[in-house]
Amino acid sequence: MKEELLQIEKKASDEIETIRDLSELEQFRIAYLGKKSVVASSMKQLKALPPEERPEAGKLANRVKNRLQKLLDEARNRLESGKTLDDSLLDVTLPGREPARGTLHPITQVLKEICRIFVRMGYSVLTGPEVELDYYNFEALNFPKDHPARDMQDTLYVSDKVVLRTHTSPMQVRVMESQPPPVSVIVPGKVYRRDSDVSHTPMFHQVEGLLVDKGVTLGDLKGSLTSFVHQMFGKDTSLRFRPSFFPFTEPSAEVDIRCVICKGKGCRTCSNTGWLEILGSGMVDPEVYRFVGYDPEIYSGFAFGLGIERIAMLKYGIDDIQLFFKNDIRFLRQF
Ligand code: FA5
Ligand code: MG
Repeated sequence: MKEELLQIEKKASDEIETIRDLSELEQFRIAYLGKKSVVASSMKQLKALPPEERPEAGKLANRVKNRLQKLLDEARNRLESGKTLDDSLLDVTLPGREPARGTLHPITQVLKEICRIFVRMGYSVLTGPEVELDYYNFEALNFPKDHPARDMQDTLYVSDKVVLRTHTSPMQVRVMESQPPPVSVIVPGKVYRRDSDVSHTPMFHQVEGLLVDKGVTLGDLKGSLTSFVHQMFGKDTSLRFRPSFFPFTEPSAEVDIRCVICKGKGCRTCSNTGWLEILGSGMVDPEVYRFVGYDPEIYSGFAFGLGIERIAMLKYGIDDIQLFFKNDIRFLRQF
Protein backbone atom coordinates (compact mmCIF):
# COMPACT_ATOMS: atom_id res chain seq x y z
CA MET A 1 0.00 0.00 0.00
CA LYS A 2 2.85 2.31 0.78
CA GLU A 3 4.28 1.77 -2.73
CA GLU A 4 0.90 2.38 -4.25
CA LEU A 5 0.43 5.73 -2.47
CA LEU A 6 3.88 6.97 -3.44
CA GLN A 7 3.23 6.04 -7.07
CA ILE A 8 -0.06 7.92 -7.04
CA GLU A 9 1.63 10.98 -5.63
CA LYS A 10 4.24 10.90 -8.39
CA LYS A 11 1.67 10.37 -11.13
CA ALA A 12 -0.57 13.15 -9.86
CA SER A 13 2.22 15.69 -9.61
CA ASP A 14 3.24 14.93 -13.22
CA GLU A 15 -0.31 15.11 -14.45
CA ILE A 16 -1.16 18.41 -12.79
CA GLU A 17 1.45 20.13 -14.95
CA THR A 18 -0.50 19.30 -18.12
CA ILE A 19 -3.84 20.66 -16.99
CA ARG A 20 -5.07 23.59 -19.13
CA ASP A 21 -8.53 24.45 -17.87
CA LEU A 22 -10.94 24.11 -14.99
CA SER A 23 -12.86 21.16 -16.45
CA GLU A 24 -9.64 19.15 -16.75
CA LEU A 25 -8.89 20.14 -13.20
CA GLU A 26 -12.24 18.79 -12.07
CA GLN A 27 -11.44 15.44 -13.74
CA PHE A 28 -8.20 15.44 -11.81
CA ARG A 29 -9.97 16.11 -8.52
CA ILE A 30 -12.44 13.28 -9.06
CA ALA A 31 -9.70 10.84 -10.03
CA TYR A 32 -7.34 11.59 -7.13
CA LEU A 33 -9.39 13.05 -4.31
CA GLY A 34 -13.02 12.06 -5.03
CA LYS A 35 -15.03 9.49 -3.03
CA LYS A 36 -14.05 6.68 -5.40
CA SER A 37 -10.44 7.77 -5.83
CA VAL A 38 -7.39 5.65 -5.17
CA VAL A 39 -6.56 7.77 -2.14
CA ALA A 40 -10.03 7.26 -0.68
CA SER A 41 -9.88 3.52 -1.11
CA SER A 42 -6.39 3.38 0.49
CA MET A 43 -7.85 5.18 3.49
CA LYS A 44 -10.51 2.47 3.72
CA GLN A 45 -7.90 -0.29 3.49
CA LEU A 46 -6.12 1.07 6.58
CA LYS A 47 -8.50 -0.84 8.86
CA ALA A 48 -7.43 -4.12 7.26
CA LEU A 49 -3.76 -3.60 8.15
CA PRO A 50 -2.12 -5.15 11.20
CA PRO A 51 -2.38 -2.67 14.11
CA GLU A 52 1.40 -2.02 14.28
CA GLU A 53 1.53 -0.89 10.63
CA ARG A 54 -1.53 1.34 10.85
CA PRO A 55 0.01 4.57 12.34
CA GLU A 56 2.76 4.78 9.76
CA ALA A 57 0.49 3.98 6.80
CA GLY A 58 -2.13 6.42 8.10
CA LYS A 59 0.45 9.18 8.34
CA LEU A 60 1.61 8.53 4.76
CA ALA A 61 -1.92 8.43 3.38
CA ASN A 62 -2.68 11.77 5.03
CA ARG A 63 0.50 13.33 3.76
CA VAL A 64 -0.26 12.25 0.18
CA LYS A 65 -3.82 13.44 0.45
CA ASN A 66 -2.73 16.88 1.71
CA ARG A 67 -0.07 17.14 -0.99
CA LEU A 68 -2.64 16.40 -3.72
CA GLN A 69 -5.05 18.91 -2.21
CA LYS A 70 -2.30 21.51 -2.27
CA LEU A 71 -1.46 20.81 -5.95
CA LEU A 72 -5.15 21.08 -6.79
CA ASP A 73 -5.52 24.44 -5.00
CA GLU A 74 -2.45 25.89 -6.64
CA ALA A 75 -3.59 24.81 -10.11
CA ARG A 76 -7.04 26.31 -9.52
CA ASN A 77 -5.54 29.65 -8.46
CA ARG A 78 -3.36 29.69 -11.51
CA LEU A 79 -6.20 28.90 -13.92
CA GLU A 80 -8.64 31.33 -12.35
CA SER A 81 -6.17 34.21 -12.48
CA GLY A 82 -6.01 33.70 -16.25
CA LYS A 83 -2.49 32.34 -16.52
CA THR A 84 -2.17 29.15 -18.47
CA LEU A 85 0.83 26.98 -18.17
CA ASP A 86 1.55 27.54 -21.81
CA ASP A 87 2.44 31.24 -21.69
CA SER A 88 3.39 31.25 -25.37
CA LEU A 89 -0.34 31.39 -26.23
CA LEU A 90 -0.57 34.86 -24.69
CA ASP A 91 1.60 37.59 -26.16
CA VAL A 92 1.61 40.33 -23.54
CA THR A 93 3.70 42.59 -25.80
CA LEU A 94 0.88 43.01 -28.36
CA PRO A 95 -0.44 46.64 -28.41
CA GLY A 96 -3.89 47.06 -26.83
CA ARG A 97 -6.99 47.89 -28.83
CA GLU A 98 -7.46 51.65 -28.85
CA PRO A 99 -11.01 52.87 -28.16
CA ALA A 100 -12.54 54.94 -31.00
CA ARG A 101 -12.26 58.59 -29.98
CA GLY A 102 -14.70 61.27 -31.18
CA THR A 103 -13.77 64.84 -32.17
CA LEU A 104 -15.66 68.12 -32.11
CA HIS A 105 -17.64 68.93 -35.28
CA PRO A 106 -15.64 71.36 -37.48
CA ILE A 107 -18.36 74.00 -37.06
CA THR A 108 -18.07 73.72 -33.27
CA GLN A 109 -14.29 74.00 -33.49
CA VAL A 110 -14.47 77.14 -35.63
CA LEU A 111 -17.19 78.62 -33.42
CA LYS A 112 -15.01 78.12 -30.34
CA GLU A 113 -12.01 79.64 -32.11
CA ILE A 114 -14.04 82.74 -33.11
CA CYS A 115 -15.29 83.16 -29.54
CA ARG A 116 -11.74 82.79 -28.17
CA ILE A 117 -10.46 85.57 -30.43
CA PHE A 118 -13.20 88.04 -29.44
CA VAL A 119 -13.05 87.13 -25.75
CA ARG A 120 -9.34 87.99 -25.86
CA MET A 121 -10.34 91.43 -27.23
CA GLY A 122 -12.63 91.88 -24.20
CA TYR A 123 -16.05 90.81 -25.52
CA SER A 124 -18.36 88.63 -23.41
CA VAL A 125 -20.39 85.74 -24.86
CA LEU A 126 -24.22 85.50 -24.76
CA THR A 127 -26.87 83.37 -26.48
CA GLY A 128 -30.49 84.11 -27.44
CA PRO A 129 -33.73 82.50 -28.69
CA GLU A 130 -33.89 80.80 -32.12
CA VAL A 131 -37.66 81.23 -32.25
CA GLU A 132 -37.96 84.99 -32.25
CA LEU A 133 -40.58 87.72 -32.36
CA ASP A 134 -40.96 89.58 -35.65
CA TYR A 135 -40.41 92.68 -33.50
CA TYR A 136 -36.80 91.77 -32.62
CA ASN A 137 -35.90 90.06 -35.90
CA PHE A 138 -37.20 92.96 -38.04
CA GLU A 139 -39.23 95.79 -36.53
CA ALA A 140 -36.76 97.09 -33.91
CA LEU A 141 -33.91 96.62 -36.41
CA ASN A 142 -35.59 99.26 -38.54
CA PHE A 143 -37.17 96.90 -41.08
CA PRO A 144 -40.60 98.54 -41.38
CA LYS A 145 -43.56 96.31 -42.28
CA ASP A 146 -43.65 95.54 -46.01
CA HIS A 147 -40.14 96.90 -46.38
CA PRO A 148 -38.48 95.14 -49.36
CA ALA A 149 -35.35 94.45 -47.24
CA ARG A 150 -37.35 91.71 -45.48
CA ASP A 151 -37.21 89.75 -48.74
CA MET A 152 -33.38 89.70 -48.54
CA GLN A 153 -33.67 87.07 -45.87
CA ASP A 154 -36.19 84.44 -47.08
CA THR A 155 -37.90 84.18 -43.72
CA LEU A 156 -39.42 81.00 -42.25
CA TYR A 157 -42.56 82.07 -40.37
CA VAL A 158 -43.95 80.28 -37.30
CA SER A 159 -46.98 82.59 -37.16
CA ASP A 160 -47.79 86.19 -38.08
CA LYS A 161 -45.71 87.63 -35.26
CA VAL A 162 -43.20 84.81 -34.71
CA VAL A 163 -40.32 83.73 -36.98
CA LEU A 164 -37.30 81.42 -36.91
CA ARG A 165 -34.65 84.10 -36.54
CA THR A 166 -33.01 84.82 -39.90
CA HIS A 167 -29.90 86.29 -38.26
CA THR A 168 -28.42 86.82 -34.79
CA SER A 169 -28.96 90.60 -35.01
CA PRO A 170 -32.18 90.54 -32.90
CA MET A 171 -29.84 90.01 -29.94
CA GLN A 172 -28.43 93.51 -30.51
CA VAL A 173 -31.82 94.88 -29.49
CA ARG A 174 -32.34 92.43 -26.61
CA VAL A 175 -28.91 93.21 -25.15
CA MET A 176 -29.26 97.01 -25.41
CA GLU A 177 -32.78 96.79 -23.91
CA SER A 178 -31.42 94.93 -20.90
CA GLN A 179 -28.40 97.09 -20.02
CA PRO A 180 -27.04 100.63 -20.32
CA PRO A 181 -23.90 101.30 -22.39
CA PRO A 182 -21.02 100.52 -22.66
CA VAL A 183 -21.72 97.17 -24.32
CA SER A 184 -19.34 94.64 -25.88
CA VAL A 185 -20.83 91.24 -26.58
CA ILE A 186 -20.72 88.43 -29.10
CA VAL A 187 -23.67 86.09 -29.67
CA PRO A 188 -23.10 82.76 -31.42
CA GLY A 189 -26.08 80.67 -32.56
CA LYS A 190 -28.20 78.98 -35.22
CA VAL A 191 -30.22 80.95 -37.77
CA TYR A 192 -32.71 79.85 -40.45
CA ARG A 193 -33.52 80.87 -44.03
CA ARG A 194 -35.15 79.39 -47.11
CA ASP A 195 -31.88 79.06 -48.95
CA SER A 196 -29.87 76.09 -50.27
CA ASP A 197 -26.89 75.60 -52.65
CA VAL A 198 -23.09 74.99 -52.43
CA SER A 199 -22.58 78.02 -50.19
CA HIS A 200 -26.04 78.28 -48.52
CA THR A 201 -27.97 75.96 -46.18
CA PRO A 202 -31.43 76.47 -44.58
CA MET A 203 -29.92 76.34 -41.10
CA PHE A 204 -26.51 77.85 -40.49
CA HIS A 205 -24.56 79.57 -37.73
CA GLN A 206 -23.70 83.19 -37.13
CA VAL A 207 -21.78 85.08 -34.50
CA GLU A 208 -23.17 88.55 -33.82
CA GLY A 209 -20.91 91.22 -32.41
CA LEU A 210 -21.94 94.51 -30.83
CA LEU A 211 -19.81 97.26 -29.34
CA VAL A 212 -21.34 100.53 -28.12
CA ASP A 213 -19.55 103.24 -26.14
CA LYS A 214 -18.66 106.92 -26.29
CA GLY A 215 -16.62 107.86 -29.37
CA VAL A 216 -16.64 104.56 -31.29
CA THR A 217 -15.81 105.12 -34.99
CA LEU A 218 -15.80 103.30 -38.32
CA GLY A 219 -12.02 103.03 -37.85
CA ASP A 220 -12.60 100.92 -34.73
CA LEU A 221 -14.87 98.63 -36.75
CA LYS A 222 -12.31 98.19 -39.52
CA GLY A 223 -9.46 97.67 -37.09
CA SER A 224 -11.34 95.09 -34.99
CA LEU A 225 -12.53 93.04 -37.97
CA THR A 226 -9.16 93.18 -39.74
CA SER A 227 -7.50 91.97 -36.54
CA PHE A 228 -10.05 89.17 -36.32
CA VAL A 229 -9.42 88.04 -39.92
CA HIS A 230 -5.66 88.08 -39.38
CA GLN A 231 -5.93 86.05 -36.17
CA MET A 232 -8.30 83.57 -37.81
CA PHE A 233 -6.61 83.12 -41.20
CA GLY A 234 -3.09 84.48 -40.80
CA LYS A 235 -1.50 87.89 -41.35
CA ASP A 236 -1.16 87.51 -45.15
CA THR A 237 -4.88 87.02 -45.83
CA SER A 238 -6.40 89.47 -48.30
CA LEU A 239 -9.71 90.96 -47.28
CA ARG A 240 -11.84 93.82 -48.55
CA PHE A 241 -14.58 96.01 -47.10
CA ARG A 242 -17.36 96.32 -49.69
CA PRO A 243 -20.09 98.97 -49.22
CA SER A 244 -23.44 97.35 -48.52
CA PHE A 245 -26.85 97.99 -47.04
CA PHE A 246 -28.57 96.87 -43.83
CA PRO A 247 -31.57 98.77 -42.39
CA PHE A 248 -30.00 98.68 -38.91
CA THR A 249 -26.51 100.00 -39.75
CA GLU A 250 -25.30 103.17 -41.46
CA PRO A 251 -22.86 103.09 -43.15
CA SER A 252 -22.74 99.35 -43.82
CA ALA A 253 -20.04 97.11 -45.24
CA GLU A 254 -19.63 93.46 -46.05
CA VAL A 255 -16.24 91.80 -45.65
CA ASP A 256 -14.95 89.41 -48.30
CA ILE A 257 -11.91 87.17 -48.14
CA ARG A 258 -9.86 86.01 -51.11
CA CYS A 259 -11.32 82.61 -52.06
CA VAL A 260 -8.93 79.94 -50.78
CA ILE A 261 -10.40 77.22 -53.00
CA CYS A 262 -9.34 78.86 -56.30
CA LYS A 263 -6.85 81.42 -54.84
CA GLY A 264 -8.95 84.17 -56.36
CA LYS A 265 -9.11 82.77 -59.91
CA GLY A 266 -12.86 82.13 -59.73
CA CYS A 267 -14.68 78.84 -59.00
CA ARG A 268 -18.17 77.59 -58.19
CA THR A 269 -17.74 78.25 -54.44
CA CYS A 270 -17.11 81.97 -54.96
CA SER A 271 -19.46 82.19 -57.98
CA ASN A 272 -16.41 83.04 -60.13
CA THR A 273 -15.74 86.30 -58.30
CA GLY A 274 -12.55 85.20 -56.52
CA TRP A 275 -13.99 86.52 -53.22
CA LEU A 276 -16.17 84.99 -50.52
CA GLU A 277 -18.37 87.05 -48.23
CA ILE A 278 -17.86 86.15 -44.57
CA LEU A 279 -19.70 88.86 -42.69
CA GLY A 280 -21.98 91.87 -42.73
CA SER A 281 -21.24 94.90 -40.54
CA GLY A 282 -21.78 98.60 -39.99
CA MET A 283 -22.16 101.48 -37.54
CA VAL A 284 -25.34 101.00 -35.48
CA ASP A 285 -28.11 103.12 -37.05
CA PRO A 286 -29.41 105.90 -34.73
CA GLU A 287 -32.94 104.61 -35.49
CA VAL A 288 -32.11 101.41 -33.55
CA TYR A 289 -30.96 103.42 -30.50
CA ARG A 290 -34.42 105.02 -30.49
CA PHE A 291 -36.02 101.55 -29.98
CA VAL A 292 -33.81 100.75 -26.96
CA GLY A 293 -33.57 104.22 -25.38
CA TYR A 294 -29.86 104.92 -25.93
CA ASP A 295 -28.93 108.55 -26.71
CA PRO A 296 -27.31 108.65 -30.20
CA GLU A 297 -25.87 112.10 -29.38
CA ILE A 298 -23.70 110.52 -26.67
CA TYR A 299 -23.12 106.96 -27.84
CA SER A 300 -22.03 105.31 -31.05
CA GLY A 301 -21.05 101.77 -31.91
CA PHE A 302 -20.62 99.08 -34.49
CA ALA A 303 -22.11 95.65 -35.10
CA PHE A 304 -21.21 92.69 -37.27
CA GLY A 305 -22.59 89.25 -38.16
CA LEU A 306 -20.19 86.45 -39.15
CA GLY A 307 -21.19 83.35 -41.11
CA ILE A 308 -19.47 80.47 -39.32
CA GLU A 309 -19.85 77.87 -42.12
CA ARG A 310 -18.26 80.27 -44.60
CA ILE A 311 -15.33 80.81 -42.28
CA ALA A 312 -14.96 77.05 -41.76
CA MET A 313 -15.04 76.50 -45.56
CA LEU A 314 -12.26 79.03 -46.04
CA LYS A 315 -10.21 77.79 -43.12
CA TYR A 316 -10.29 74.14 -44.23
CA GLY A 317 -10.60 74.61 -48.01
CA ILE A 318 -14.03 72.93 -48.28
CA ASP A 319 -15.92 73.69 -51.48
CA ASP A 320 -19.41 72.52 -50.51
CA ILE A 321 -21.21 73.82 -47.40
CA GLN A 322 -23.62 70.84 -47.44
CA LEU A 323 -20.76 68.54 -46.34
CA PHE A 324 -21.00 69.98 -42.82
CA PHE A 325 -24.52 68.65 -42.40
CA LYS A 326 -24.36 65.22 -44.06
CA ASN A 327 -22.64 63.70 -41.01
CA ASP A 328 -20.47 61.49 -43.19
CA ILE A 329 -18.03 60.07 -40.66
CA ARG A 330 -15.22 59.91 -43.27
CA PHE A 331 -15.54 63.68 -43.73
CA LEU A 332 -15.85 64.50 -40.01
CA ARG A 333 -12.87 62.30 -39.01
CA GLN A 334 -10.49 64.64 -40.84
CA PHE A 335 -10.86 67.45 -38.30
C1 FA5 B 1 -26.88 89.42 -41.88
O1 FA5 B 1 -27.40 88.37 -41.51
C2 FA5 B 1 -26.76 90.60 -40.95
N1 FA5 B 1 -27.51 90.34 -39.75
C3 FA5 B 1 -25.28 90.82 -40.65
C4 FA5 B 1 -25.03 92.08 -39.91
C5 FA5 B 1 -24.91 92.07 -38.53
C6 FA5 B 1 -24.91 93.29 -40.59
C7 FA5 B 1 -24.66 93.24 -37.83
C8 FA5 B 1 -24.68 94.45 -39.90
C9 FA5 B 1 -24.55 94.43 -38.54
P1 FA5 B 1 -26.18 88.49 -44.23
O2 FA5 B 1 -27.54 88.09 -44.65
O3 FA5 B 1 -25.28 89.04 -45.26
O4 FA5 B 1 -26.26 89.59 -43.08
O5 FA5 B 1 -25.48 87.24 -43.52
C10 FA5 B 1 -24.27 87.34 -42.80
C11 FA5 B 1 -23.32 86.20 -43.15
O6 FA5 B 1 -23.97 84.95 -42.95
C12 FA5 B 1 -22.93 86.19 -44.62
O7 FA5 B 1 -21.81 87.01 -44.80
C13 FA5 B 1 -22.59 84.75 -44.86
O8 FA5 B 1 -21.27 84.48 -44.41
C14 FA5 B 1 -23.54 84.01 -43.95
N2 FA5 B 1 -24.72 83.46 -44.66
C15 FA5 B 1 -25.78 84.12 -45.11
N3 FA5 B 1 -26.69 83.27 -45.64
C16 FA5 B 1 -26.19 82.02 -45.49
C17 FA5 B 1 -26.66 80.69 -45.79
N4 FA5 B 1 -27.86 80.46 -46.33
N5 FA5 B 1 -25.85 79.64 -45.51
C18 FA5 B 1 -24.65 79.85 -44.92
N6 FA5 B 1 -24.16 81.05 -44.58
C19 FA5 B 1 -24.91 82.13 -44.87
MG1 MG C 1 -24.77 89.36 -47.09
